[in-house]
Amino acid sequence: MCVMASALGADAGRGRLLYEARCTVCHGTSVHLRETRKARSFEGVRAQVERWNAELGGAWSADDIDDVTMYVNNRYYFFPCPDSACGSEQASTRRNSKQSRVDRQ
Ligand code: HEC
Repeated sequence: MCVMASALGADAGRGRLLYEARCTVCHGTSVHLRETRKARSFEGVRAQVERWNAELGGAWSADDIDDVTMYVNNRYYFFPCPDSACGSEQASTRRNSKQSRVDRQ
């Protein structure tokens, strides 16, 4: 397990396990690195993770989605993680109040 992100609001090590268990059936690295990729920000990545979770039946909690977003972002996108997402343990509560800004596609 990756302990690097344990001081942050989300746990990328846990996110990796969730992602690998459920999401690598269809895609590995390439979908996240393609020229035309959709995610353009940390929140954009999160919106895609939310979307795929919903498409697959919506089993994940908001915390699970945060963890997977952190993992995917740390591994592929490298967008700056906003304080609202990574700054504290209250990250998911605070970010939820901003969710209307998230660009859903
Ligand atoms: C049924 C196959 C399938 C599964 C299962 C799947 N994906 Fe995807 N995913 C795709 C395809 C195809 C695309 C590219 C086309 C699109 O974005 O609609 C994509 C795109 C994405 C993107 C956007 C990449 C970008 O920046 O353009 C993210 C993020 C993503 N998937 C995350 C996930 C996560 C997280 C899961 C697990 C909950 C998941 N996917 C499960 C097929 C799948």
